[in-house]
Parts: sequence; C-alpha cells; structure tokens
Amino acid sequence: MPAQTPVVDVEYEQPAGPTCVTRHAWARVPPEPSPTERDALKDRIRHLLKARDAVMVSHYYVHPDLQDLAEETGGLVSDSLEMARFGRDHPAQTLLVSGVRFMGETSKILSPHKRVLMPDLDATCSLDLGCPEPAFSAFCDQHPDRTVVVYANTSAAVKARADWVVTSSCALEIVRALKDAGHKLLWAPDRHLGGYIQRETGADMVLWNGSCIVHDEFKGFELEALKREHPRAKVLVHPESPADVVALADAVGSTSGILKAARELDATEFIVATDNGMMHKLRSLNPGKVFIEAPTAGNSATCKSCAHCPWMAMNSLMDLARVLETGANEVLVDPALGLRARLPIDRMLAFTQGLKQGQAPGSLVPHFGAA
Ligand code: 13P
Ligand code: SF4
Repeated sequence: MPAQTPVVDVEYEQPAGPTCVTRHAWARVPPEPSPTERDALKDRIRHLLKARDAVMVSHYYVHPDLQDLAEETGGLVSDSLEMARFGRDHPAQTLLVSGVRFMGETSKILSPHKRVLMPDLDATCSLDLGCPEPAFSAFCDQHPDRTVVVYANTSAAVKARADWVVTSSCALEIVRALKDAGHKLLWAPDRHLGGYIQRETGADMVLWNGSCIVHDEFKGFELEALKREHPRAKVLVHPESPADVVALADAVGSTSGILKAARELDATEFIVATDNGMMHKLRSLNPGKVFIEAPTAGNSATCKSCAHCPWMAMNSLMDLARVLETGANEVLVDPALGLRARLPIDRMLAFTQGLKQGQAPGSLVPHFGAA
C-alpha cells in the first residue's frame, strides 16, 4: 500500500444471529489529482485502453471521472447486473472493472479467458466481508430443504454454494417465481433486502444477518422530517436500506431502478436514499430536477454516516492508469470454483434475459431441487 495514501478505519456493527464476527475493516482514500494531472491521466487511460484491447466497466457509485471516462470510451456505467452482462458480452479481452471486489470476480467468473483488472483489489463490501464461506456453508447445512439465493455482493466461494445469484434489480422477480414454483428459500447476506423481498412476495425465507454499512445508516425518523420540509419531493430508496426507510419510498429499486424512477416519476424534486455517488448520473441525466441526499445517522462525517461507500471510493484514475500500464491487480478466481459459481449467475442472466424477451417468469425457473 503506498505510504502516502491515507487509510480510514471502517467500524461496523454486526447484528446478533447467524453471521460472522467481523467488526472491522479499512479502506484507502486516494488523493484527488490536480486538474492538470487529471487531464493527463485521462489521456493516458484513453490511449492505454486502445493499446491493451481493454474496456471500462464502472459502477454508478465510483468517482464521476471513472463513470464519464467509461462512457466516453465505449464502456459502461451501470448497476451490478448490467456490469456482469456487459463484461461477458463485450469483445475486448481486458475488462477494467471500477467498483468493488465482487464485481470484478463476477466478471472473471463469466469471462474466465479474459483478463479482468481492478484499480484496487482491496475494495471490498461489508456484505461480502460479513458472509464468509465456512460460516455460510454451515448455515446452508442447517437448512438442506431450502433453495439457496445469494445477493451478488458475495465472494465466489459463497456463490459457488448457491442455487441462484440475484442483484437488487431482479431479486423480486426471481424470488416470486421461485415461491410460485413451491421453493422455500435461504437468503444471504443482506437482511434489509431479504426482508423487503419477503414482505413483497410472502416467500418463506430464512435470512442471513448482514448489512451494507452505507444504506444501513439511512434513518426513517429523519427522513420523515425531511419530507415535511419538501412536501412535493418523491423519495427514491435502494432496498439495502432499513424497513422504516423503505416504507417511506415512492420508488424502491436498484441503482438503475432509481435512475428510471427519477426519469419517469412526475416530480421535479427527489430525496434519494442510496450512496451519493449516484448523484452524478441522477443530476447529469435530469437537468432541472433537484436531488437531495436522504439523512444518515449524524453529521460526524465518518464512513458510517457520509453516505458514500469507502470501498467504492478507493477506485481512482491514478490506479486505473497504473494497472492498465503494468497489468497489475488482475482478478483471479480458482477455475473449478469459478465453474461452480457460474451456474447460479448464469441462471440469473438467463432469467432476466427471458423476462426482457417477454417469457413468463414461471417458465424461467428450471426444475431442480434445493441445495
Ligand atoms: P446495484 O446492483 O443496485 O447497482 O447495487 C450494488 C450495490 O453494491 C449497492 O450498494
Ligand atoms: Fe457493499 Fe454497501 Fe459498498 Fe454497495 S455500498 S459495495 S453494498 S458496502
């Protein structure tokens, strides 16, 4: 780790119940380049992308520079589902994934013959950290009659134990189809997203007890007060948020779902409960509309309350240029593990593709038993 890069401690509470005991993590804060450095880095990256047959795939929460550069160079900015699909389908032989570790791993699992690079391999996620494979496998062993559905924000090893992988943009439809096909489910790791899906679908689910340190901090009580100050504002909420926040939403959705709602809802003012990296796209795609950050626990500006993922923040132009130049930070997944983890990801991609083509959800659930 470069000595000059500040490191922030990331404390988070693990709730009681079936979960790991991880309570501590850390993230690096890359220095912001000067305007001249920034232009030079962008030029270098544009050149290297062509020279290395590489394409950028960025998440909506990373630095605006990494979002804009991805789009400008023919890459993608999107939610985690479309990032996976785009990386798989794009002909470039190197995928440069800006986001967090599970996103790079998913790309590698879907494209084992491509080179997948990330600006910082230590960019992780509290959901992934809070769901280690040995404890998760033991949890699955306690519920052998249940179909195992895991959120994409997990390690390759956890995915390898799953029957289905879902993201927040397709979890509702997949769980509903599984419920209709008679499945009882084991869900991991996000208890808020799991609880939301359970309430919406009525599915029989046992939940792992993890959470996202960013969304967990949105507070229903403060949100109600903010709504009173902005009575015409519509509330857009990512379903990793607590139930009392979701209950106040006019639209609940993945990052791309939030963008769609901002475009389509009849309002000019919005309160947004998700990582504030999202504001860049919300504002640039909706000039004239006003986006207000939903309130978090306090004003102490720690990682827990600033509404910005400390691991998404680790992605920088400087590291992106460096890894393209040197080939460092390649994401590697054990091939046998990758093959096993690919099955539930492929099911998700086939399901969502089928839905887009107008197929009935029930016909997209293959007839296989619980894990
Ligand atoms: P999306 O799939 O909605 O992009 O969410 C990914 C994520 O990590 C949200 O915190
Ligand atoms: Fe994980 Fe939350 Fe960061 Fe998304 S915002 S990557 S769920 S810690």
